[in-house]
Amino acid sequence: MQQLKGLILSGGRGTRLRPITHTSAKQLVPVANKPVLFYGIEAMAQAGIDEVGIIIAPETGGEIRAAAGDGSRFGVKLTYIVQDRPAGLAHAVLTAEEFLGESPFVMYLGDNLLQGGIGDLVDAFREHSPDALILLTPVPDPEHYGVAELRDGAVVHLVEKPSAPQTDLALVGVYMFTPVVHVAARAIEPSARGELEITDAIQHLVDQGRRVEPHIVQGWWKDTGRLEDMLAANRLVLDTIAGHVEGELVQSQVDGRVVIEAGARLERCAVRGPAIIGAGARLVDCYVGPYTAIGEDCEISNAEVEHSILLARSVVRDLDGRMESSLLGRNVKVGRAHRQPRAFRFLVGDNSEIGIL
Ligand code: G1P
Repeated sequence: MQQLKGLILSGGRGTRLRPITHTSAKQLVPVANKPVLFYGIEAMAQAGIDEVGIIIAPETGGEIRAAAGDGSRFGVKLTYIVQDRPAGLAHAVLTAEEFLGESPFVMYLGDNLLQGGIGDLVDAFREHSPDALILLTPVPDPEHYGVAELRDGAVVHLVEKPSAPQTDLALVGVYMFTPVVHVAARAIEPSARGELEITDAIQHLVDQGRRVEPHIVQGWWKDTGRLEDMLAANRLVLDTIAGHVEGELVQSQVDGRVVIEAGARLERCAVRGPAIIGAGARLVDCYVGPYTAIGEDCEISNAEVEHSILLARSVVRDLDGRMESSLLGRNVKVGRAHRQPRAFRFLVGDNSEIGIL
């Protein structure tokens, strides 16, 4: 088989993660302090794919380029391809046609996380040479995904977000294709949501008698499109980390697997892992509970934080209750106002959510 290329989709609007995605691409929201997108790039590198195209949107593309660069630090060569509008995953494939040429390729949705990478799947794709290989996993809410029906181990029918799913097998956001997918992407019509769906392109391959090989995902998989999925992905990745302390601990106690990055300083704190505290963070008189990722240069004082993700430079101060299951963007400030009148004071962007005691 010809050399495989990689295609990572990092466009899209990220509407389900607003307001974070008003100012930042959803693929750059960190999981265990590393942008989701980087897990995909690393999976490509580990599978021996060294030419990777990244589909970007005009609005957030600059930020993605700045974060991932030329790919050399991942050991891959990155080529950025602008998709002028979010017109669907099959439209993204067509946008990348020139980059992909006649190569077979792995397509990876940039907000997806797949445990164990893609090495085994790439091997299976090379070995069995199907026209396409899709990944499936049973989910409790198949109506939110592309859904596949199998018969005798073969894919017979695929539907994008069906209102009455026939099976619970969701399409995972990692696909392998031969160049015939370009023909299929050109043959289909936009869906009800106005997009060229990759699910429909795969159905077209099935209808044309092409061989679409299904693979049931063995480990976990997460599409990080929503807050609860982000928190779940954070839990799953933190569950795999090995603890190490590079920062400074002053009268502080660390239990379980905890990463404290260089330049972080903790004074009179208790941290219960799995958790990660980013470089340069300043924590004083606080408790950090399991499944928390504190971004770089955050400040937390006189507060308790658990099962949460804090992006860089956020500040949490003087909370009466414990903050949990929260996602704070960059430079967010949460704290007690000591002045009179005693009142809640908010400066909150569109689509924010606040839960108070
Ligand atoms: C997309 C695909 C869907 C797939 C899902 C996986 O959905 O259209 O078939 O199951 O990714 O994450 P979207 O994220 O565009 O709603």
